[in-house]
Amino acid sequence: MDIGIDLISFHTPSYYLDLRVLAERRGVDPDKFVIGVGQERMAIPPPDQDIVTLAANAALPVVEKAGRDGIGLLLFATESGIDQSKAAALFCHGLLGLPPECRCVELKEACYGGTAALRLAAAMVAANPSMKALVLAADIARYDLGSSGEPTQGAGAVAMLVTANPRVMALDPETGVHAEDIMDFWRPNYRAEAFVDGKYSTRMYLTTLIPAWKAYAAASGRTLADHAHLAFHMPFTKIAWKSLSRLCRAEGVPEPSAGEAARLLGPATVWNRITGNTYSACVHEGLCSLLDNAPEPLDGRRIGFFSYGSGCMAEFYSGVVRPGYRGHVFTDLHRAMLENRTELTYRQYEDIFNYGVPQDGGDHVFAPYRGGPFRLAGINGHKRRYEPR
Ligand code: HMG
Repeated sequence: MDIGIDLISFHTPSYYLDLRVLAERRGVDPDKFVIGVGQERMAIPPPDQDIVTLAANAALPVVEKAGRDGIGLLLFATESGIDQSKAAALFCHGLLGLPPECRCVELKEACYGGTAALRLAAAMVAANPSMKALVLAADIARYDLGSSGEPTQGAGAVAMLVTANPRVMALDPETGVHAEDIMDFWRPNYRAEAFVDGKYSTRMYLTTLIPAWKAYAAASGRTLADHAHLAFHMPFTKIAWKSLSRLCRAEGVPEPSAGEAARLLGPATVWNRITGNTYSACVHEGLCSLLDNAPEPLDGRRIGFFSYGSGCMAEFYSGVVRPGYRGHVFTDLHRAMLENRTELTYRQYEDIFNYGVPQDGGDHVFAPYRGGPFRLAGINGHKRRYEPR
């Protein structure tokens, strides 16, 4: 029996900063960000959006299309948690009107959390194929202003319904994982911005790709040529090209031509290039991008994925796109959302960045900004209050 992604949707805030504007302010050649790092825009969440609203906004089209019945598991992956006790999954459970017979849990391992949630959900569905699982991954990537990580910020969420006999993608059972205890990127509980050793983190991403790939290749007997496209975790899109070179070297095969590399990698990078890093949502935002932007039909084609979470966890896995998937994707919704975003000036970006969540326990009402169907309406007595827009 096939288990996998029945429906998948992604959501990103309605505001962005163009990285050429940031480059000018930081006195950097814009080509460094656009070509060297491979990013053009970064999504900026206004004060009335947080991981709960981003995830609920991503999930609403999925639950409206599939129906709520039978969703017995809700896993929420994030490293931008809003509460140390209550799972963000429960806020979404309420907003989405899911059935009470549903396990709701939040889980974390940096950017790898979304993949962990997907694999755990698939295992739970395999054990009980009549159950459906909703996997949410949402994050807001923040680094200090003026730091080298700043141009790799972003925000977004992915929602995936995991079922037996899925309509979009069947997951292959074989995977390759690699774990190592390192400090390449971390965010202590008292900080809103991450610390990162950027060069070391990039090196560890590329280093751990190889044992993860080798374990996957040994388990599955597949080679690179068995994959029609590759979707990598994308803290910045240039890393997909670096990863492909590494894999070719590890396999002892010649690197593809520039045209072939663009064919293999390009469609999965289109959305990430204009949203920035979405941490736990990133690799499956790449899947949305691929499904929405591949020029050829993907029916029956195998996709390879590499997920990396700092700290660090790495996993290589794959899936086969289901025949007829095009009738079940949210391409028009994704396009309209991305085309209707508002560009921020540098000053507006800095004002939003410096806006701190009120911590005094008072009654705070948040002005409505543009965004998806749910918003954070305010905070009163340290409790977040969400509402439909
Ligand atoms: P940096 O020091 O600002 O940039 O850091 P650089 O000097 O390394 O330059 C970047 C590239 O631009 C280089 O290309 C330059 O040559 C090129 P490369 O040699 O790498 O191919 N360049 C130019 N190209 C064209 N025209 C120009 C020009 N100038 C330079 N004029 C870095 C870059 C990504 C390290 C930084 O942005 C950073 O620290 N980002 C945050 C950390 C990060 O994204 N790490 C990635 C791996 S870790 C990960 O993925 C996990 C993570 O998502 C978190 C989680 O798991 O939760 C981050």
